[in-house]
Order: sequence, then structure tokens, then C-alpha cells
Amino acid sequence: MKIKDFSRYTRSIFAIGLLGMTSQAIATATVEVYKSPTCGCCNKWVDHMRENGFTVNTHDVGNKDIRKKSGISETLGSCHTALVNGYAIEGHVPAADIMRLLKEKPKAVGLSVPDMPHGTPGMEGSRVDPYNVLLIKEPDQSRKDTTIYNRYDPYAKQAGKTEPVATEAEKNSSIMRLKP
Ligand code: CU
Ligand code: CU
Repeated sequence: MKIKDFSRYTRSIFAIGLLGMTSQAIATATVEVYKSPTCGCCNKWVDHMRENGFTVNTHDVGNKDIRKKSGISETLGSCHTALVNGYAIEGHVPAADIMRLLKEKPKAVGLSVPDMPHGTPGMEGSRVDPYNVLLIKEPDQSRKDTTIYNRYDPYAKQAGKTEPVATEAEKNSSIMRLKP
């Protein structure tokens, strides 16, 4: 009994340590956002990023040049391009997916939510559409060659779920949950 309790205790401590490291890594991440000065939904996305603990600098010079320079093809384009920790982020990508990217550090160009789907962070309104967050593994990849990093589907919440299933320990302890 005692050994079991102790092991659960140490595992919790370990998990808390990991959480601490994660939020620290994100707190130090500065996001450089390239957008048009008149883009309202870009500003809302910037707010979403700041609300999630990112430091954001904005550059009102448009995003076409930086998008091309970053290796994001036109087919993956959206209204703004952001740079963070060596990755490029195109469009209304949720902060949670960017946090996951910075934590997992895959070899990649970055993430994109092409176009501007309704219901993405910064594009909130009465309409909510399903959309994919795409992982761009190689520079100038076309949309069809990207990998689905995450899927948001308001009509089928379980469909294409890419998150790992919670372990028993995670289910039993709310503090160990990485997702809110
Ligand atoms: Cu937009
Ligand atoms: Cu934008």
C-alpha cells in the first residue's frame, strides 16, 4: 500500500515539474506577427495569443513576403504569419496547438490553418465550421502534402482525435491534466 501511494505521489510531483517546465518555455516564447494594419481578425488572434501567455510583437507590413521567406506556400496562406522559436505559424492557429508544437519540437516549418475558417481563434461568430491544423514538414509544401496536426470538428467531437488518451493516473488526478 505505502509503496503504491509513494509511487503515485512521486509521479504527481514529476508531472507538476513537467507542467512547470512547459509553462516556463511558453512564457519565454516571443511571437512576431506579420499582418496588415487594417486586419481586425488578426488583432483578435493576437489577443488570443496574449491571453494564452505569449509575448507578441506585431509588424504591420503585411505577410506575403515573410510567408514566402518562411517556406509556406500560397496554398496554405491566410491573413497573417507569425514566427516563434524557429517555427512559422500561418493563420488562425489555436494557441494550444502552438504550445504543443513548442513542447514536441518536431522537425518542421510550422503550422497552418489555411484561409480563415469560421470559429477559429479570432474568427469567432455565430458560425462555426470544422477545420484542420496542418503540419508543414518541408519548405514550400503544397496543402495536400501536409499532415493533419489537429482537427476541430464541432459536429463530430471524437472524429480524428489526435490527442493521446489519458492514462489512469491522469484520469484520477485533475492536477495532472495538461488540457484545461
Ligand atoms: Cu484572419
Ligand atoms: Cu490574421
